[in-house]
Formats: sequence, structure tokens, C-alpha cells
Amino acid sequence: MYPHEDGYRILFIENSPQSRDRITSAFGHSGREIRLEFVPSLAAGFDFIKRETVDAVFVNAAQCGVEVPIVLRELRKAGNSAPTIVVLGSYNVDAALDAIRAGAADCLVDDVTGAASMPLAAERTIARAREAQDQLERLQAVIRSQKQWMAVMDAITDYIFVVDEGHRLVKVNNSFAAAFGMSPREVIGRQCAELFGMDILGDCTFAAGSDQSPRTVEKVLGGVTYQISVFPLVEDGVQLRIQVMKNITELKRLKDQLHHADKLASIGLLVSGVAHELNNPLTGAIAYSELLVMKVTDESVRQEVRKILESAERCKKIVDNLLTFSRQQAPTKSLESVNDIIDRVIDIRSYWLRKNKIEIVREYDPVSTVFVDTQQIQHVILNLLLNAEQAIASSGQAHGRVMFTTRYDRDGHRVIITVADNGAGVPPEVLSRIFDPFFTTKPVGIGTGLGLSLSHGIIAEHEGTIRVQNSAEGGALFTIELPTGTGARSGVSDLKESGQRK
Ligand SMILES: Nc1ncnc2c1ncn2[C@@H]1O[C@H](COP(=O)(O)OP(=O)(O)OP(=O)(O)O)[C@@H](O)[C@H]1O
Ligand SMILES: [Mg+2]
Repeated sequence: MYPHEDGYRILFIENSPQSRDRITSAFGHSGREIRLEFVPSLAAGFDFIKRETVDAVFVNAAQCGVEVPIVLRELRKAGNSAPTIVVLGSYNVDAALDAIRAGAADCLVDDVTGAASMPLAAERTIARAREAQDQLERLQAVIRSQKQWMAVMDAITDYIFVVDEGHRLVKVNNSFAAAFGMSPREVIGRQCAELFGMDILGDCTFAAGSDQSPRTVEKVLGGVTYQISVFPLVEDGVQLRIQVMKNITELKRLKDQLHHADKLASIGLLVSGVAHELNNPLTGAIAYSELLVMKVTDESVRQEVRKILESAERCKKIVDNLLTFSRQQAPTKSLESVNDIIDRVIDIRSYWLRKNKIEIVREYDPVSTVFVDTQQIQHVILNLLLNAEQAIASSGQAHGRVMFTTRYDRDGHRVIITVADNGAGVPPEVLSRIFDPFFTTKPVGIGTGLGLSLSHGIIAEHEGTIRVQNSAEGGALFTIELPTGTGARSGVSDLKESGQRK
């Protein structure tokens, strides 16, 4: 915008005092709020322009001593953006045309009536310049807004592209072009079917219906599922289609997972109901078979009753596992040393470990306090130890070894537990399913496939993680990370030293 909204400020490069007087008097009658600035030379004019802003410049060409085009260029160089009106000494069409071609806004002749036409010339020129300036600003605003919209489009990771009636790409966002390893410029104008590697031109105008309403479809392209929305648009009589492609593969997977989890939850409910019902009769069957084993004197009958007892006990184990699996209650937590929990589990299994000649190695961090449900974490460690024992037994390893390590990660506010055995390790096809409920590779009666899924659930409830990999030596290596709890709690755990290296 020009600096003088309500009136004008005009610079005159004019050294003739008579001309100045005529100009001043002519503008005096124009009824406008006008400030006239006079400088006597071109040099003074440049100087003025560098310091001040004006709405128009009148330059008396006769006084310049150089060609008018040069004067105009030098004025622009000095920073003049106001329209410049050249005043010629006499009527000269060629000189006037030269001036206009060189960028003069108008040309006047400084004859007797010349000054009288100046106010009107100034008014016209300034109004035109202001209109041009307004238009420029409007255009700049449109360009700015277009750029902003394009930046928004480019920030969107979904693919956005616009095709015309001939299925040619008219507009695309960065993500779309990048998907084909190109820039938007390279993509525009191409057949979209060609980019997608489709034989039929119209095939990439996904979800195109005969009507003009927007629609959405799901489509699998190159193993990826996309949700494609199409919005018809008519621009200057040309039918365009805006298409937005969203990769929903992960979303679909999560949905399926949720559905699966939902199904598992219903199975869990069913299972817990059945398990509850079976629990009491099983307890009775076990108690009575134990009595019978004691009472029966005939050894062969006693052997048979023992088999009944063993089978009933196996059933009880399964029922107990199912009940724990479908358990709904929240953990009851307290501050506990992980080292102590592991030691207790090893104690429980000490007889079998000795019997199967399995060596236990412990590498404990003295600081291992976490805020956990002790029973539940004990259950997890026991599951891992039982699995390790079974893996060692089935691998035929003569010198079985299970190693427990604990490490307090002060920065991460967590305790990291690892359990590694020297069994045969976990086959790759088992790795991805190992935490699935009911997944087992063990014979019926030995494994229910609930141990690890149960452990996973318990650790997740403690906001920790459990993962498995095969160690460099080949056996399975389980890693559990448990948060130490709030700052206050970890403060305690920092101070409380428990467990020892053995
Ligand atoms: N330490 C290990 N080494 C090799 N494979 C393992 C190990 N631990 C678990 N697995 C594999 O993971 C499967 C699932 O283990 P999980 O503890 O969930 O069930 P399970 O031991 O088969 O039965 P359950 O624990 O209910 O008696 C096992 O059947 C086994 O194939
Ligand atoms: Mg197990």
C-alpha cells in the first residue's frame, strides 16, 4: 500500500522557480490534501527517494542531462516504486514513447498549460498504481493461500491425487509422487493407470460411480490395503476427481487383533465357568482316590487307583491353570526384591533341579526392588524355569544350565531380568506364536500352552515387557523388563539392597 492513504505526496525534480510556482498554484486548486516536495536536481531526487516514500514522481526531462530511460532506471535503482511521470520540454512523440516504453506512467509537456494538467495526471496515475498494487496484493494472497494449501497437502502422508476425465494426473501431493520415487512435477500429466501399472486406463479412477456423489472403497494393491475416497469436482466445465488413498493395513490388522482378543475374552469367560464347575468334583475325585490308595490292600487294584489319582491331578493342574488364565482381579502390589523372588522359585524346584543335574547360575544386581504382585511374578519365573527344564530335558543336554540375571537400569527406572537355558532354543516358527494362549509343542498332558501367555498377561499388567530370542549359545533367552514404579518407590529401591551374587 502506498504510504499516504488519504492524500498524496508528490516529488518534483524541477529546478525552475517559475515552474515550481505554476505547479504549486495548479495543485492548490485541486481540493486534495497534497504535499508537494521539490528537489532541484536528479542527484537530489535520488537522495530523496532513498530516504522517503512518495505516491508519484514528476521528473522534468529537460533538466536531466541524460536519456529519460536512464533516469527512470536510476530512480528505480534508488528504490523508487511510485509511478513516475515524465515532463517533456516540448511536444515530442518519439521522446514520449521512449519514456512510456522505459516504464514511465505518463508523459506531459511543460508548456504554458502544462502545470494545469498535472493534478489530473497525478490523480489518474496514482489511482491506477493503487489499483495495480491492490491487485498484486490480492494475487499474492491467493498465491500464499495456494502455497499453504499445497504445504498442508504435502504434510499429509495419505496419497492425494486429482485426475481429469482422460485419467491424467492434474495435481498430486508429495507423498503420492514419492510412492513412485518421483517429484510431483514429474508425475503431473501422466496417465495414472500407467503409474499404477494397470492395463485399463479407467482402473485407477477408483470407486468412480456414474453419479457425482463422493464414495469410499477398500482395495488391496501390492499387498497393502487402502481405503480410497473419491470426491468429484467440476472446474471450468472440466470433470475432475480428487482421490485420497489411506494405507489401512495396520488399522485392519489391529482391528482383527481386537476382534481376536474379543473372541479370546469370551472364550476366557466360558473357560473360567467350566473350570469353576470342574474344580469341586475334581477335588472330590482326588480326595477319594487318595483314600482308596491308602485303604486298598490289593496291590494291582492300588496301582489302578493310583492311575486314576494321577489323571485327576493332571486334570486339576489344567483346571488351576485355566482359572489363573481367566482370572480378572487386579494385582496386589508391594515392594519386593526380584532376586528374592527368583531365589524362592529356585528353592521350590531345587529337588528336581538336583535330580536332573541342572546347574543354576545367578548374576544379580544388588539393587532389584520393584513394585509388584509377588505371587504373580513368582508364577512367571516358575513358568520360565519349568519351560527351561523341559527344553533341556528334551534336547538331551547332559549338562543342563539355567542362568538368571538381574540388572537395575537407573536411567530407565526399570529392572531387567533374563532367564537363559542351554536347551535346543526356540525354532523360528515357534518364536512368533510362543506367547499365544494354548500354543504348545509339548505332548497332551505335559503342556497346556498357557504358561507363557499367562506370564505375558501378568507382565503387561505390571506395565512391563517380556520377549524371547535365542541366545548366541543356542538356547532360549527370555528378557523381562519391569518398571520400578513411581519416583518415590524407586527412591526406596535405590536404597534397599537385597539379594547377593552367587
Ligand atoms: N525355554 C524354552 N526353550 C524352547 N522352547 C520353549 C521354551 N519355553 C517355551 N518354549 C516353547 O513355547 C511353547 C509354549 O510355552 P508355554 O509355557 O506357553 O506352554 P507349555 O510349556 O507348552 O505348556 P504349559 O506351560 O501350559 O505347561 C512350548 O510348548 C515350547 O514349544
Ligand atoms: Mg510352560
